[in-house]
Amino acid sequence: MSAWIRVDLADRGYDVVVRPGAIGELEPALVGRRRVALVTQAAIPVGLVGEARAALDRAGVVHETFLIGEGEDHKTLATVDDLCRGFAGWGLLRRDAVVALGGGVVGDTAGFAAAVYYRGVDVVQVPTTLLAMVDSAIGGKTGVNLPEGKNLVGAFHQPLAVLADPGALATLSDREYRCGLGEIAKYALMGDDFVSARSAALVARDPAVLAEVIARSAGIKAQYVGADELEQTGTRAVLNYGHTLAHALETASGHALLHGEAVAIGLIFAAQLAGTLERIDQRAVAHHEELVGALGLPTHAPPGLRGDDLVPIMARDKKSGGSLTFMLAGPRGIERVDDPDAAAVRKALAAIGVEG
Ligand SMILES: NC(=O)c1ccc[n+]([C@@H]2O[C@H](COP(=O)([O-])OP(=O)(O)OC[C@H]3O[C@@H](n4cnc5c(N)ncnc54)[C@H](O)[C@@H]3O)[C@@H](O)[C@H]2O)c1
Repeated sequence: MSAWIRVDLADRGYDVVVRPGAIGELEPALVGRRRVALVTQAAIPVGLVGEARAALDRAGVVHETFLIGEGEDHKTLATVDDLCRGFAGWGLLRRDAVVALGGGVVGDTAGFAAAVYYRGVDVVQVPTTLLAMVDSAIGGKTGVNLPEGKNLVGAFHQPLAVLADPGALATLSDREYRCGLGEIAKYALMGDDFVSARSAALVARDPAVLAEVIARSAGIKAQYVGADELEQTGTRAVLNYGHTLAHALETASGHALLHGEAVAIGLIFAAQLAGTLERIDQRAVAHHEELVGALGLPTHAPPGLRGDDLVPIMARDKKSGGSLTFMLAGPRGIERVDDPDAAAVRKALAAIGVEG
């Protein structure tokens, strides 16, 4: 199965290519470039790095590979400094390009380095995790963490193209794979449920179903990005469904919970809160639990987390402006709800196993 999804922006656009061998599409994306910096990690399978290098050879560009470290601890300004100095030492110029080959950590960090190096060089995103294929590689949000918080420094820098080969996921651990399913659950619960009927096949990593679901998810992300590229009208904020609690769970658990796992629990919490506020009925709440559970994702918070810790973290969420803000389902779809009744918030937290 091959899919080309267009991200339509006001003054330009780009394709998200989802198909076996998509890494080979680097060649047309980089026509006319002289030098290309390939940014990746040591843990990315050598076969994928080899495919990217072969595509760059075919494109006739001079290329060099730059490795960054693993995990959130390396999504930092220090890594961006290393990359930019590496680019400069090697001779990358304004009209050259960067290729980000990896998961969201590589995509966000290399994308941000590309956004600021020479005040912006082009980047191609080549996602190799499920989460990156359906979410982080699409939409141009790049950035790094500060000790004070996640993603606090960043820039919008849309890629030239996003090249996703579902076959690249064969080596992904079950836990990282499930994290991508967390974002896919979010898309399915935002409206048209294209996942419930396919959950068993998705858990079994059926290649045809996986390719179809990646394309559907990428299409939803592309639609919201196209409608509100810079997150100014509130349309794109719908993509934060389930994320207010998810970010707090990640922080309060010291990142023991991975992003996709936290999103899964955040979706159940959002449904419980919407149910308590009588925005949706109990059938819709149960549907959230069934869909998330069928994907093998957690529906309850791990023990030991307390509401007294989570609520202040949610109020500090950078998208909330200081109040307690949630994206909640309702009769008009998902919309922003500010400062809901505190007792309702506590009740919804209790429903996902968070007391205190
Ligand atoms: N920019 C955005 O819009 C956006 C959206 C969502 C999340 N994010 C960011 O994405 C990051 C998380 O991304 P992630 O979940 O992809 O994590 P990640 O990039 O850390 O990748 C997870 C692990 O999988 C390994 N890996 C990657 N591809 C592999 C493959 N094909 N086979 C085997 N191992 C592989 C990586 O080396 C890493 O150890 C977070 O920093 C988050 O803030 C950004």
